[in-house]
Amino acid sequence: MNIQWYPGHMTKARRAMKEDMKLIDLVIELVDARVPFSSRNPDIDELAAGKARMVLLNKADLSDEGKNAAWASLFESRGIHVAKIDARNKGSLKQVQAVIQEACKEKIERDRRRGILNRPIRTMVVGIPNVGKSTFINSFAGKACAKTGNKPGVTKGNQWIRLNKTLELLDTPGILWPRFEDQTVGLHLALIGSINDQILNRDELAWELIRLLEEVYPGVLKERYGLTEEESDEEKGPWVSLSKEEQNLRASYMLEQIARKRSCLIRGGELDLARAAALLLDDFRSGKLGRLSLEQAQDYKDRVK
Ligand code: G4P
Repeated sequence: MNIQWYPGHMTKARRAMKEDMKLIDLVIELVDARVPFSSRNPDIDELAAGKARMVLLNKADLSDEGKNAAWASLFESRGIHVAKIDARNKGSLKQVQAVIQEACKEKIERDRRRGILNRPIRTMVVGIPNVGKSTFINSFAGKACAKTGNKPGVTKGNQWIRLNKTLELLDTPGILWPRFEDQTVGLHLALIGSINDQILNRDELAWELIRLLEEVYPGVLKERYGLTEEESDEEKGPWVSLSKEEQNLRASYMLEQIARKRSCLIRGGELDLARAAALLLDDFRSGKLGRLSLEQAQDYKDRVK
């Protein structure tokens, strides 16, 4: 038996979302392109059943282009339309309108057969906190659009923004909850700085980042911080072949090296590992380590319906 437990406010949010969905033709779901699985809501397929679907791989400016393409193919293979965007950059949103039309082709055709012409597509933006919903709505809707006023049935206070003749957007982002019961999801969201909850202390979070990056992008950290190989590195082989303890040891050694290279010291010359960890996490989150993704589509094929 699969027991689902939601805290009260989530049950309420879920109910409100279900209500709003009744008015919607197209669901625009934002995910963080660095962690497209962990930044999705577990119930979105059920909530958006029967609607045209679109996933925006947001923060694509920070994620790995090759991995973005693989994620786009995976979602497309599930009948979901995709665009890769940087919500802060209006230029990157130009393609979105065309993808929306494509995603709603069937609805437009159905309307046409019934003699309904020019009924705008109604859409809403949904996603877990911090994926960039508000940024996207502001950039996409801009200032030029007129509010169309309240319509019956829309959650009290919600308004529609008429973007153009063919598109209306619900003015409020639909805030969804993450897959909070899954430890790896929590870790990945913490690494991108999306949740404040201290699920691990900073040093351990940094070790996890080192482990993930060394697995997928070997050499990136060494190059960025000018680290030297540990003498026995080569003998130990690739990270995946190491035990958890060995990985932690190697990661803590690398963190110490980063602390040394970046002069993270406390009085007395001791290494300030907490500062090195913060620096590393910050460099990753801000893209200073390059465009890197923590999740690869091939590892999640069976979990994306
Ligand atoms: P939300 O409504 O889904 O909760 O997310 P929101 O738009 O508030 O965005 C969360 C953070 O992500 C903001 O940064 C925002 O600037 C940033 N962001 C949104 N889209 C993109 C993107 O495509 N690329 C990058 N690199 N960042 C993006 P913040 O630090 O919380 O605020 P601020 O310092 O930008 O004001």
